[in-house]
Amino acid sequence: MIKNICCIGAGYVGGPTMAIIAQKCPHLNVTVVDVDEARIAEWNNVNLAAIPIYEPGLVTVVGEARNRNLFFSTKVDEAIDEADMIFISVNTPTKTYGLGKGMTADLKYVELCARQIAKVAKTDKIIVEKSTLPVRTASTIKSIMENSGNGVKFQILSNPEFLAEGTAVNDLLYPDRVLIGGGTDEDGRRAIQELVAIYSNWVPIEKILTTNIWSSELSKLVANAFLAQRVSSINSISELCEKTGADITEVAMAIGLDSRIGSKFLKASVGFGGSCFQKDILNLVYIAKSYGLDEVATYWEQVILMNDHQKRRFGQKIVKTLYNTVSGKKIAFLGWAFKKDTNDTRESSAIFVADALLAEQGKVVVYDPKVNENQIYTDLNYLGTRAEMANQNGLTVLQDPYDVCREAHAVAILTEWDEFKHYDWERIYHHMYKPAFIFDGRNILNKKELENIGFVYYSIGS
Ligand code: NAD
Ligand code: UGA
Repeated sequence: MIKNICCIGAGYVGGPTMAIIAQKCPHLNVTVVDVDEARIAEWNNVNLAAIPIYEPGLVTVVGEARNRNLFFSTKVDEAIDEADMIFISVNTPTKTYGLGKGMTADLKYVELCARQIAKVAKTDKIIVEKSTLPVRTASTIKSIMENSGNGVKFQILSNPEFLAEGTAVNDLLYPDRVLIGGGTDEDGRRAIQELVAIYSNWVPIEKILTTNIWSSELSKLVANAFLAQRVSSINSISELCEKTGADITEVAMAIGLDSRIGSKFLKASVGFGGSCFQKDILNLVYIAKSYGLDEVATYWEQVILMNDHQKRRFGQKIVKTLYNTVSGKKIAFLGWAFKKDTNDTRESSAIFVADALLAEQGKVVVYDPKVNENQIYTDLNYLGTRAEMANQNGLTVLQDPYDVCREAHAVAILTEWDEFKHYDWERIYHHMYKPAFIFDGRNILNKKELENIGFVYYSIGS
């Protein structure tokens, strides 16, 4: 029977996932560990509003379980030692060096975890891959474990996470499915059942799917690839709509009502962002290539190329519309996060559009309800396009959306935050240069109302 759980990695997945397990399983002790001391201190902050991840509803869950049976700690060895089950939930970014650079997942953090578990463990453990990993990673972990030399038995399970940011709590409470892959022998089946028993505290049993370990690992990459493919598909058609007079919202509605296609994930946008879609598709492409499946690789690569195109053409549309130059012009950015209801900015389209406009000597002024100034500069500096000082001079972050839009030549909507819909657009219009342009990269504003005020309004795909 599992009593103590440890999760290595207190990030966007480890934190919320373990908080829900702790909330729903008061009989288990859950310890989330991380090497990042500042992050752990934030998770432990008495002021719940200061926890490091903004997710609707998360504060309540953490408030209920923290220091009852949910603990955040930097004592990694101690937590591993005490745990019967260890989730690995560390980051698996795209490799930035050496073999597979720019394509495959960098598994150094996962390998470090495996080595640390192998070194510390004195009792049998079930190791759960929660991070998204290339198919067959379990064999790497297994090989490290089998050579630990301390006679402890390990079972390895794959239990990929399907939560989306901004809706993490709801997704964890009511998942479409929980996927658990494991060994097919008796020990493997027993380990799978231990994890099934945990989820069945709140997930209906028919939603808990068990498979072999390779199917589970691969399914996670494929799920993200299919989701991203839908966004690239609708975005590709958005460009065609702009040329033909068709309207992407109407087209999405018309095709989405076909139950075989379905209506979700058909929102045309300035391009998908987030830490995973691009990383996971690149990974899939690399895996396909490594097996010599060039056609498969090329097919999926196109999803990324279309997304790059969509981000690029949004920036170009602004420049072209503003009479082919934005030099010295103020462009107000509403939104920086990669989607609403999160403070996560990884791979956000806003970063790339801002970079393109700065390259055209535009002055970018940003407001985002949840992203702080420091993060915005970090994102831009990370691209390495120009000196940090040049980014500082070209881009300003303000706390008030009306100040951001004051004396702007154009407003660009980069994130679909609900509050943008309820602004006093008349007030904004009166304080902008004329003609006052809006580039709605999320199709959230009302075209008619804005045109009545006097704006020149551009959306995606119409
Ligand atoms: P994250 O960067 O927010 O968190 C990872 C944490 O792991 C960091 O705090 C880091 O300090 C810590 N860490 C790294 N190496 C460590 C080590 N050796 N010991 C202790 N701590 C260590 O990442 P994330 O967004 O939570 O993603 C984690 C994994 O989950 C990735 O594989 C990702 O693809 C996958 N995933 C993410 C999401 C999402 O919405 N973010 C959803 C599903 C799956
Ligand atoms: C995505 C998946 O939805 C999750 O199932 C998965 O667990 C997660 O990746 C992961 O593995 O990290 P996430 O990236 O958090 O979740 O958010 P999504 O809602 O999928 O949005 C991703 C991007 O696509 C955002 O930039 C969003 O604005 C964009 N998008 C989404 C669109 O442009 N149009 C849409 O119709 C849907």
